[in-house]
Amino acid sequence: MNTTKKFEYDIEFFNREKEKQEILNVLRAKPQLINFIYGPINSGKTTLITSLIEELPETYVVFYVNLRRKSITKYEDFIRVLFSVEKNKDIKDIIKGLIAKVEKAIYTSQGIPINDSLLDGFLKKDSREDPLEFLENYFKEISKTKIPILIIDELQMIGDLEINGKLIQRLFNFFIGLTKELHICHVFALSSDSLFIEKVYAEAILKDRCRYLLIDNFDEETTKKFLKKHNFSGKEQENICKDIGGKPAHLIRIIDVQNRGGDVITEIGAMSENRKKEIKDTLRKLRRFGSEVVFDNIHYKIDYNDVLSTLKMFNERDKISAGEIDEVIKMYLVKNNILFAECANETIKPQSKLDLLAIREILKEI
Ligand SMILES: Nc1ncnc2c1ncn2[C@@H]1O[C@H](COP(=O)(O)OP(=O)(O)OP(=O)(O)O)[C@@H](O)[C@H]1O
Ligand SMILES: [Mg+2]
Repeated sequence: MNTTKKFEYDIEFFNREKEKQEILNVLRAKPQLINFIYGPINSGKTTLITSLIEELPETYVVFYVNLRRKSITKYEDFIRVLFSVEKNKDIKDIIKGLIAKVEKAIYTSQGIPINDSLLDGFLKKDSREDPLEFLENYFKEISKTKIPILIIDELQMIGDLEINGKLIQRLFNFFIGLTKELHICHVFALSSDSLFIEKVYAEAILKDRCRYLLIDNFDEETTKKFLKKHNFSGKEQENICKDIGGKPAHLIRIIDVQNRGGDVITEIGAMSENRKKEIKDTLRKLRRFGSEVVFDNIHYKIDYNDVLSTLKMFNERDKISAGEIDEVIKMYLVKNNILFAECANETIKPQSKLDLLAIREILKEI
């Protein structure tokens, strides 16, 4: 995102040209499908979408809602995150303000602006006001002049919320209305929870109504280019690729250490040790206390030795296919952020190269 000159140094947004083009192509066409953006933890999904928004022209009005910013346990919490309040304003004036001509796309990141009386209406007990119905008209109004884009980040946060049935189901129907049926608003949903995306993938009402865009960690070529830009030598680029791989958040940490005059090799060692310790801790707890995962209200026990046998598959390979792994063990390892399930390609892999190497080291020690 655009950080102003407040900081002595700033690690600028890098590359992602292919993914950017893919999203821009989607935006050029009439809204047809719901877009799910998924990828490993810290791969740069939020950064990509927010940086792209800043380059959009004035034809777009972008509403960005991040469900991770507040804890959502009930309907009221969801409504408060979804909307932002402009006190004592007429809703018509709020919408007029949004579509007023400016040079760049209007970007509201605090939720969808409405006035206080509307919010009170939505929050009132037994209220008959349906916020999603209201929003459909809201987007319809904007779409007469501009192209609205609705982005919901961390959609999995409300995956299990029950309000007269599952809230997520109502949202999916609402998204289908905005895209496939009315073609008035682009919808993007972001998530790093690959089990959630798998559920979405299997969701009958979404069949042929959405597309999936994987934002993966940087590949080797991009990682090296990114490091080169930050003055790392060819040898250092090789070593970093070999030892930690291309997860943007990991690379940022290395670049930051270099910028502060620290020792990069020591930092890589510390990152590897730390990840190893975390995974070992998870396995130790499993061996001592046991664990379980729940699917369709049925509890499944996790067998420690089955987990080890699964991890052993990564001794020689970087990724395995979904058919090779037991579903229960997969759920456990994905839930614990050790593995990532790439549902569209049916492959399973560690969350990062750092995780892959940590797994291999741990297996040697056991
Ligand atoms: N293309 C990029 N260029 C430079 N820095 C990046 C890039 N992508 C991500 N980063 C940095 O990596 C870190 C993680 O990015 P971000 O939060 O966007 O990931 P995410 O995939 O949304 O994470 P989460 O899984 O938690 O939702 C941030 O510090 C961000 O600034
Ligand atoms: Mg994110």
